[in-house]
Amino acid sequence: MPSSRLLFFLLFLCFFCTQLSCTKTEVQALLAWRSSLKDPGCLTQIGTSNNISTDPCQWDRITCNEAESIISLDIAFCHIDGILDKFNFSSFPNLTELWMDHNENLHGGIPKEIGTLHNLQYLHLSSNNLVGEIPVTISNLSNLEHLDLSINLLTGAIPSAILNMSSLHSLDLDNNNLTGQIPKTIGNLINLEELSLSVNYINGAIPREIEHLTKLTSLYLYVNELSGQIPLEIGNMTELEIAILNNNKLQGNIPATIAQLPNLSTLYLGNNQLNGTVTPYLGNNSNLMDIDLSNNNFVGTLPPLLCRRGKLNYLWAANNSFNSLLPITLKNCSSLIELYLDHNNIRADVSQTLGEHPNLSLINLSKNRFYGRLPSNLGGNIFSLSLEGNEIS
Ligand SMILES: *[C@@H]1O[C@H](CO)[C@@H](O)[C@H](O)[C@H]1NC(C)=O
Ligand SMILES: *[C@@H]1O[C@H](CO)[C@@H](O)[C@H](O)[C@H]1NC(C)=O
Ligand SMILES: *[C@@H]1O[C@H](CO)[C@@H](O)[C@H](O)[C@H]1NC(C)=O
Ligand SMILES: *[C@@H]1O[C@H](CO)[C@@H](O)[C@H](O)[C@H]1NC(C)=O
Ligand SMILES: *[C@@H]1O[C@H](CO)[C@@H](O)[C@H](O)[C@H]1NC(C)=O
Ligand SMILES: *[C@@H]1O[C@H](CO)[C@@H](O)[C@H](O)[C@H]1NC(C)=O
Ligand SMILES: *[C@@H]1O[C@H](CO)[C@@H](O)[C@H](O)[C@H]1NC(C)=O
Ligand SMILES: *[C@@H]1O[C@H](CO)[C@@H](O)[C@H](O)[C@H]1NC(C)=O
Ligand SMILES: *[C@@H]1O[C@H](CO)[C@@H](O)[C@H](O)[C@H]1NC(C)=O
Ligand SMILES: *[C@@H]1O[C@H](CO)[C@@H](O)[C@H](O)[C@H]1NC(C)=O
Ligand SMILES: *[C@@H]1O[C@H](CO)[C@@H](O)[C@H](O)[C@H]1NC(C)=O
Ligand SMILES: *[C@@H]1O[C@H](CO)[C@@H](O)[C@H](O)[C@H]1NC(C)=O
Repeated sequence: MPSSRLLFFLLFLCFFCTQLSCTKTEVQALLAWRSSLKDPGCLTQIGTSNNISTDPCQWDRITCNEAESIISLDIAFCHIDGILDKFNFSSFPNLTELWMDHNENLHGGIPKEIGTLHNLQYLHLSSNNLVGEIPVTISNLSNLEHLDLSINLLTGAIPSAILNMSSLHSLDLDNNNLTGQIPKTIGNLINLEELSLSVNYINGAIPREIEHLTKLTSLYLYVNELSGQIPLEIGNMTELEIAILNNNKLQGNIPATIAQLPNLSTLYLGNNQLNGTVTPYLGNNSNLMDIDLSNNNFVGTLPPLLCRRGKLNYLWAANNSFNSLLPITLKNCSSLIELYLDHNNIRADVSQTLGEHPNLSLINLSKNRFYGRLPSNLGGNIFSLSLEGNEIS
């Protein structure tokens, strides 16, 4: 750095130091990190535009407390190109929110020093290009409520220690390259409302310790390598509304306890190796809206009460071995939008199966043993109708 520029830089720092007694170390740390970046993106705005140079706390990406110390730093969508290694986390002891998501050129690992941000409640690092393992030190963030590391290239197993953070309300680790099993310590996350581990390479069984997640409303585990049975204890997650478990290697029956969940509206179990009959009470106790049972080995009668509460929109049950369908299941189901029952072995009179469905847009009944006459007043705006491989007149 030429000496005149160095002098200017020092003057600039001193300007902060004298004008703003308390942000000194924080601003220095930010500027030091900035100078390590290939492209500092939005950070160039610090100290360059008139409105920020006088007080970083006035920058709309920074929030300070009454002592002019930074409590929230939002450099999401900031076009930063560089790594986090030179970010001095210990200079921000008052930080409660760190938003650094959507910087597609933010790469390298997550430094273990991130564990020094003891007051952090929100940590958002999603949609970057971060690699390496999730540092165990994140478990030291005992006030953390929202942890989002999704859509990166993180590898390794989920550290069991990070599932010890009972303050977490949401945990999003989806769309990475995570491997290994879901640690049993998941049961410690008793305040969790949303859990997303989808689109990774996670294997092993879903631990029965999920029974302790009694506040969970959304469970996303799709596109992994999970095997074994769905634990009975899923019935203990009494607030569960959305359970997306498709595209795994889950086996055995659907536990009957799942039908007890009073708020369950969306259940995706497609593309697994589930078998046996499906509990006939599914839909009896909750406003079921979307259900995907397709591409499994289910047999017997399609659960008759799926539309009992009159909310069912999407029913996908193709590619199983269901062999019957009762009139009560769909005939009065006016909420229905899509119906895929193809590639089963269902023997039923189609005139008794379907009724009036004003919202229906897609029906696929092909490759079954339906017979009888298709109702002429199906209604709806049907743009796709597949009936081949039946005896429908
Ligand atoms: C003030 O800061 C905002 C937010 O960083 C920026 O968009 C704007 O251009 C700045 N105004 C001036 C006059 O520099
Ligand atoms: C953190 O905030 C407190 C006030 O809540 C203040 O006394 C302290 O100096 C701040 N720490 C730093 C490093 O600015
Ligand atoms: C990081 O910041 C802390 C506190 O401001 C300071 O003590 C430490 O020396 C800094 N570390 C580096 C590597 O600059
Ligand atoms: C957690 O913090 C404590 C001190 O607060 C420290 O002794 C310990 O090494 C930290 N553990 C990790 C895993 O960072
Ligand atoms: C992530 O997994 C994909 C698919 O297996 C692989 O192509 C890619 O190299 C992996 N990336 C990392 C960072 O491990
Ligand atoms: C989880 O926390 C408990 C108590 O807070 C502690 O005893 C235990 O060692 C922690 N486990 C892990 C894996 O960090
Ligand atoms: C889970 O539900 C079962 C049956 O309803 C009950 O016996 C068990 O105590 C519940 N477990 C927890 C941790 O609440
Ligand atoms: C179900 O949803 C309703 C309405 O959203 C909510 O009041 C209730 O607490 C939820 N949980 C249970 C167990 O009913
Ligand atoms: C269901 O699958 C399991 C494991 O894949 C197997 O042990 C069991 O016999 C199957 N049950 C039925 C009824 O096909
Ligand atoms: C089905 O619902 C009815 C009334 O809503 C309830 O009385 C009955 O216990 C439920 N049956 C089962 C097995 O959940
Ligand atoms: C049913 O299986 C066939 C062949 O495996 C596949 O092409 C089709 O996409 C499957 N249907 C659905 C709805 O998944
Ligand atoms: C459909 O609803 C009508 C009127 O509520 C009722 O009489 C009929 O039994 C219902 N049919 C089925 C199959 O549920």
